[in-house]
Amino acid sequence: MADDLFSPALSAAAEHATRYLAGLGERPVEGPATVDDLRAALDVPLPDGPVDAAEVVRAVAEAAEPGIVATGSPRYFGFVIGGALPAAVAADWLATVWDQNAGLTVGGPPAAVVEEVAGRWVLDLLGLPRDASFGFVTGCQMAHVTALAAARHHVLAKMGWDVERDGLAGSPPIRVLAGEDRHATIDRALRFLGIGTNAVEAVPSGPDGRMRVDALAAALAGPTEPIPTIVCAQVGEVNTGAIDPVAEICEVAHEAGAWVHVDGAFGIWAAASPTRRAALAGIERADSWATDFHKWLNVPYDSGFAVCAHPASHRAAMGTQAAYLVHAEPDGPRDQMDWNPEFSRRARGFAVYAALRSLGRSGVADLVDRCCALAQRFADRLGALDGVEVLCDVALNQVLVRFHAPDGDPTFTPRVIDAVQASGECWMSGTTWQGAPARRISVVNWQTTEADVARSVAAIERAMRAQL
Ligand SMILES: Cc1ncc(COP(=O)(O)O)c(C=O)c1O
Repeated sequence: MADDLFSPALSAAAEHATRYLAGLGERPVEGPATVDDLRAALDVPLPDGPVDAAEVVRAVAEAAEPGIVATGSPRYFGFVIGGALPAAVAADWLATVWDQNAGLTVGGPPAAVVEEVAGRWVLDLLGLPRDASFGFVTGCQMAHVTALAAARHHVLAKMGWDVERDGLAGSPPIRVLAGEDRHATIDRALRFLGIGTNAVEAVPSGPDGRMRVDALAAALAGPTEPIPTIVCAQVGEVNTGAIDPVAEICEVAHEAGAWVHVDGAFGIWAAASPTRRAALAGIERADSWATDFHKWLNVPYDSGFAVCAHPASHRAAMGTQAAYLVHAEPDGPRDQMDWNPEFSRRARGFAVYAALRSLGRSGVADLVDRCCALAQRFADRLGALDGVEVLCDVALNQVLVRFHAPDGDPTFTPRVIDAVQASGECWMSGTTWQGAPARRISVVNWQTTEADVARSVAAIERAMRAQL
């Protein structure tokens, strides 16, 4: 029977997966195995011939497991890495089993339909225009590429230049005004799109880390001739969670004929919370948005979302045709490859659909509110400890701290970070903030509780004492 060919390997994976997930809350966050240990376990000679599938799955699981970083742990606070909701994990398994090619509707109609539905749910939850176009991409990096390709098309078309046909050689130069605290993926997207990082003029931030609208307005007022211009704003700076004043940015940028793109990798999810939404007032007035599902929505990697208020420009930048492709009827479901940079691709919409359907509107709002409240709790508890400096107000779910030794040793913060990570109790990433080492705490996991915060603060306190 055909299912016997799969069930031993799938059962082995399911057995491992359920054990791993059940132990997530208690296992050390950082796996004990080093890269050398993992090489020793995994770097075996390529077998001369076939090996039983279940045996391979068990061997991979056993060799990899000791090095797995428990990013789904409720005490993993590194980078901005979300956990994974049960419904999303399970739906993602099905996406693998069904193995649809989600480029065209004809490659898997349910994959196309869940993206249509989930995409519209997200526009609704985040308060973005109902008729905006969207693409499900690998992450915020590719969401920037997608949205900024639409922006590139739009601002150049206004100057009579067809960038898809004629490229950028000889085109009017594009100007990009982006906050000085923008994420590195903005510059990387501009590199990929041939706009180049030299096109970027950094707009200064105020002491609160938000883009200064007066500085943006002054920069926009500079040129006397029309210049194709893209403004990149941000809601949720990676260190501080700072939220740019998007309504005011849109006002001055649109008056100058510029396109406004918003990097909302994680921060835009605050719009799904009735108590937080006011901080993002006006985001719906932008021209494009980029976000992630694998961060705050707790969908497994990889999963991002590009949204565009100008569907014609989005499609002009991404759409594709070839004689052998079977496109959907004009009034039928959307073909995903018209809105995505990928051609063949994974049906990542199933996991997003499942995450949203399992949480519901109030569940998404609760997730956002809970993470923000726990981040504040972290800041309050850490701020009460001797030698801990909380570096800025908690705008969302990010906390930024620095540790001070009585003798002023500048290596103290990184040493404390190393000690906490080695303890396996929790995991937080380091950064440099205003020229000195700092530690970022990102609360973004659906399972994190008050007890996890208390346990992590206790681990930090112990590590600080041990490093004195
Ligand atoms: C503000 C911001 N933008 C963009 C990104 C990049 O997202 P991704 O890694 O999903 O491409 C991040 C990642 O942390 C981020 O915080």
